[in-house]
Amino acid sequence: MCRLSGKVAVITGAAQGMGEAHARVFIREGASVILTDVNQAKGEALARKLGDKAMFVTHDVASAADWATVIALGEAQFGRVTVLVNNAGVIGPVQDLLSFSEDDFLKVCAINQLGVFLGMKAVLPSMIASGGGSIVNISSIAGMLGTRESSNAAYCASKWAVRGMSKLIAAQHGKDGIRVNSVHPGYILTPMMVAATDAEGGGAAEAIPLGRMAQPEEVSNVVLFLASDEASFVSGAEHVVDGAMIAG
Ligand SMILES: NC(=O)c1ccc[n+]([C@@H]2O[C@H](COP(=O)([O-])OP(=O)(O)OC[C@H]3O[C@@H](n4cnc5c(N)ncnc54)[C@H](O)[C@@H]3O)[C@@H](O)[C@H]2O)c1
Repeated sequence: MCRLSGKVAVITGAAQGMGEAHARVFIREGASVILTDVNQAKGEALARKLGDKAMFVTHDVASAADWATVIALGEAQFGRVTVLVNNAGVIGPVQDLLSFSEDDFLKVCAINQLGVFLGMKAVLPSMIASGGGSIVNISSIAGMLGTRESSNAAYCASKWAVRGMSKLIAAQHGKDGIRVNSVHPGYILTPMMVAATDAEGGGAAEAIPLGRMAQPEEVSNVVLFLASDEASFVSGAEHVVDGAMIAG
């Protein structure tokens, strides 16, 4: 227990789904956690339940000004941020390229791709001043290959971009003691996935060798490891959590 004691973490998209699970696990392991989300009501209610080591800040990850507010409020409460989990994301309409609009492409990329860029930029000064830190960027199996199901060109492009940026910043800022990794979940039982697979008419679990979708906590356990000092030499790598879905 307390594998994250002394760490101050920002987790985006933390009002529900995997972000909520990461926040619960991080608090259990001794971190102070700044939960952020556009969903203020849900985020505030969750932070209240999690107690004194949690706080919530309303935050659109696509806004640089919002990121400045998150860091200022979070650090005033808990001290320098040393862990960032860029988790917030959206799928957008699950449509073929021919019907997918430019407007939807830009909206998805603003949250999934620009949001991760802005997040890393926002925490870098604190991590450099602290002598290091860990950034965990949530991509997808859609950032490992072109998955046909529950995806579209913008989701796929943005999740590959997250994977690429993670490697670049890991390479450029390793000298500052900063580790950057990407996590690539498969089918995880969250509100996002339930909505996407309902739209497909079910049957998604059949494509997973382990025979089921995962619970959010099964991804949190990997994020926890990457955030902790146990992962001290793990950086610039992809971590697929998919029950062997893309293995064969
Ligand atoms: N569920 C899956 O099977 C799956 C698979 C692969 C990757 N992912 C990725 O995991 C991450 C979490 O997904 P989830 O399934 O928990 O989704 P979810 O929809 O259940 O939760 C996402 C959260 O992000 C928040 N959010 C949306 N736009 C935001 C913005 N602009 N700024 C801040 N917060 C915003 C939402 O309000 C929500 O609380 C996403 O990046 C998603 O792409 C999910």
